Amino acid sequence: MAETIRVTDGDKQEKYRSLIPQIKALVDGESDLIANLSNTIAALKQGMSFFWVGVYFVKNSELVLGPFQGPIACTRIALGKGVCGTAYKEKKIIIVPDVDQFPGHIACSSDSKSEIVLPAFDKNGEVVLVLDVDSIALNDFDETDKLYLQKIVELIEAMI
Ligand code: SME
Repeated sequence: MAETIRVTDGDKQEKYRSLIPQIKALVDGESDLIANLSNTIAALKQGMSFFWVGVYFVKNSELVLGPFQGPIACTRIALGKGVCGTAYKEKKIIIVPDVDQFPGHIACSSDSKSEIVLPAFDKNGEVVLVLDVDSIALNDFDETDKLYLQKIVELIEAMI
C-alpha cells in the first residue's frame, strides 16, 4: 500500500486525475468499508486541500456522521434538512455556490462558504451515504468537481 499521496501541480482537473488512481490503489485489496472510506477521505483532504470532506451514512432515515477530515461537524442531519439532507431526499448532486443563499443550510462551521454534496447509491437505487465537501471560498465547486467526485462516489459504491 502506498504511504504517501502525491498530486500533480496544476489545475484541479490535473490534481483529480493524478489522485484518483492513487485512491483506487489505496482501497484495492481491502474489503472493510470504514477503513477504505477513511483513507479515501484522508487522500481527498490531503490531495485537494479541501477545508472539510467527509461522509454521512443513512441510518434509520437520517444522516449520521461517518469518516471525515476537517473541523468537528454536526453528527445527525434529518432527511430533507440542509444541503446533505436535501441531496439525500432528492437523490441528486447539489452544488451550493454560497451557503448563505441556501435555505436551511446547516452551518457546522461558520468558515464554510460553498459546498458540494453527492449521494452514493446501493444496488436498489437507495441512498446509502452522502459525500460532503466544504470550502472556505465562495463558488469553489463546479462541473469539474462534480465529474471527478462522482468517480470517487462510484469507487465507494463498488465497496458497498
Ligand atoms: N453544511 C451541511 C452540513 C454538514 S457540514 O457542512 C460538515 C448541510 O447543510 O447539510
